[in-house]
Amino acid sequence: MNFNGHTPNQERSWSRHAARYNDVFLDPYATDVVNPLWQALDAVGDAGAKTAADLGCGTGPLLGPLLGRFRRVVALDFAPGMIERAREQVAEADRARVEFLQRPMDDLADRVGTIDAAVAINSLVMPDVRCIQRTLEAVRACLRPGGVFLGIAPSIDAIQYHTLLLHDQALDHGMEPADAERFAAFHAEHRYYDFAFGRFKFRGLRQKFWHGFELEHRLARAGFRSITVSKVLYPWDDNFAGGAELADCPPSWDWFFRAEP
Ligand SMILES: C[S@@+](CC[C@H](N)C(=O)[O-])C[C@H]1O[C@@H](n2cnc3c(N)ncnc32)[C@H](O)[C@@H]1O
Repeated sequence: MNFNGHTPNQERSWSRHAARYNDVFLDPYATDVVNPLWQALDAVGDAGAKTAADLGCGTGPLLGPLLGRFRRVVALDFAPGMIERAREQVAEADRARVEFLQRPMDDLADRVGTIDAAVAINSLVMPDVRCIQRTLEAVRACLRPGGVFLGIAPSIDAIQYHTLLLHDQALDHGMEPADAERFAAFHAEHRYYDFAFGRFKFRGLRQKFWHGFELEHRLARAGFRSITVSKVLYPWDDNFAGGAELADCPPSWDWFFRAEP
């Protein structure tokens, strides 16, 4: 069967996750997270006269910060349940400055050359890389000259880092090597991941997870330039198995990127 790069039912799966979104996903907007996004948004000159697009806006946590900086905001998501929640986030006084689009992120042909800052926070997660590549090309085309593409992408190597720390922890507690491996694989939830291709499958959701080098590769392939990749740093807290015991280790991360069209 050919779905032309769209994995069926992902809209529905994301909609189902809208209600309990904050229980399941790490929050890059929390105050104890080191997030380069804020500085990158603040660096957009004359933002008060410009348009931002929140691509894969989800329940809308970024809409307030974008409306605080930009004149207009386009909020796009393919999941109706997400768009519904995102609408509720916008204050009455700001409604006229936000345009909601319920559609897939590669469907931007009517927006070519209209966006100054496109932002994709944990939403470049399509399990089919053809769809990701098409999306990156569409995002680049919708940016105005001088525009910028900013995003956060879930890190597959951070899962391997967590595994390493859990493995060491188990060995330090005297476990035999095979038991220590089983302990680490269980608590780092390896059953949900395909490490070779960077994929995650959980309760109907299928998501792409990234290496930093893959972001550089795919952004460059889509024609972006001046690409920089850095880390969003998450403290070891109770969002992570064994988090309390890992508090003194260097933090976990997702990938942050900035690229120009
Ligand atoms: C992990 S959530 C992140 C939501 C939001 N950006 C945030 O920071 O909380 C991913 C969002 O991307 C949306 N999404 C995933 N693939 C998409 C696609 N191909 N087109 C449009 N939206 C998509 C999902 O519906 C979901 O709302």
